[in-house]
Amino acid sequence: MGVKKLAILGSTGSIGKSTLEVVAAHRERFPVVSLAAARSVEELARQAALFQPQVLAVLDKEAADKLKTLLPPGLKAEVVYGPQGYLQAAAGCGADMVLSAMVGAAGLLPTYAAIKAGIDVALANKETLVAAGELVMAAARESGSAIVPVDSEHSAIYQSLMGNDPAGVRRLWLTASGGPFWSFTKEQLAGVTPEMALAHPTWSMGPKITIDSATLMNKGLEVIEAHWLFDRGYDDIKVVIHPQSVVHSLVEYVDGSFLAQLGLPDMKTPIAFALAHPQRLALDTPQLNLAQVARLSFEEPDLERFPALGLAFAAGREGGSAPAVMNAANEVAVGLFLRGSLTYGQITACVRAVLDEHQTHSLPSVAAVLEADRWARAQARAWAESHGGAA
Ligand SMILES: NC(=O)c1ccc[n+]([C@@H]2O[C@H](COP(=O)([O-])OP(=O)(O)OC[C@H]3O[C@@H](n4cnc5c(N)ncnc54)[C@H](OP(=O)(O)O)[C@@H]3O)[C@@H](O)[C@H]2O)c1
Repeated sequence: MGVKKLAILGSTGSIGKSTLEVVAAHRERFPVVSLAAARSVEELARQAALFQPQVLAVLDKEAADKLKTLLPPGLKAEVVYGPQGYLQAAAGCGADMVLSAMVGAAGLLPTYAAIKAGIDVALANKETLVAAGELVMAAARESGSAIVPVDSEHSAIYQSLMGNDPAGVRRLWLTASGGPFWSFTKEQLAGVTPEMALAHPTWSMGPKITIDSATLMNKGLEVIEAHWLFDRGYDDIKVVIHPQSVVHSLVEYVDGSFLAQLGLPDMKTPIAFALAHPQRLALDTPQLNLAQVARLSFEEPDLERFPALGLAFAAGREGGSAPAVMNAANEVAVGLFLRGSLTYGQITACVRAVLDEHQTHSLPSVAAVLEADRWARAQARAWAESHGGAA
């Protein structure tokens, strides 16, 4: 395999750090040309000293000034900030591949810029496809940029599709751990706190996706992501609860075969696959012992206790601006829940209320996506304020 120059967006987050662990074990193959984060400048300075990128991008001037004081003397990295800075980190450093792992809609513009420039993308930032799937996939077709999923479920599907005729696919099956509250009653769910929701049973992840996993909105976002990545209708995408998180997802073929990818829940495996495929990188991760796992169980999702999944299917089917609006409202509601301003149940109630208010329209441009995103954020904050949450 040749050398692949990497830009890593969201390098200080859970996925970003796991990516740098993979890269550290394969330094000669993956030189890092840029790193981007928001405000975690101490961590970014540590990473810069280790990986010697050309460009470091942060959220604003204040973070950039602070970062400059922390960089080791002699490091030649250019420090940039704001939207232009992120665009430079993504598409202006000569990267062969962008690892897109900023959280939320913040990832959209730099990821889109990389795709427009024909740079391959290892995509963790599912919100980009949820909000702007049609535009993003059209841009990738036009520029020739390959989008390789990092999400473990989509990586599993991608791998289970390899070498097979897409015409033979009957359905895609996304597995979901069910999150920490899968066995909770409606009454118990009403008492869920941020601390309880942040303790995911099988995956260690950033706070936003951990809360999304607890409401099953994460699976809903993944359904929409799968629709765009694999060009399948929503009737052909199924979700099944699988608490052990060992079978990462499956493809069902018309002859009755199911192909799946299995592994321990460790994001380094799908990250390594996205960076190197079709080759495999040797990783020093714990190995799956099937006899020890002993039992793999599967059950239907309960849309009554976890309505976010049904909302996401409906928004995906509606299309146009509905998924972007749902995504933005959810991001606001999750932020307010984490700050103690909304209850667990109000996260999905807020998203539903914003979607109910929304007149779906088409999204012909990224500007239109950003406008729908802004509208939904304002609506979600207003809903929260009128329901006792300080927005
Ligand atoms: N974690 C997982 O296992 C996992 C699995 C599949 C998919 N994903 C997806 O990967 C993405 C990242 O998830 P994560 O769990 O790694 O999140 P995380 O731990 O919260 O990290 C988020 C990263 O994004 C940066 N960031 C936050 N706000 C930003 C902004 N406004 N502008 C630019 N950068 C910003 C953060 O920088 P600071 O540190 O400076 O705030 C950090 O580097 C999400 O889209 C998530 O859905 C995650």
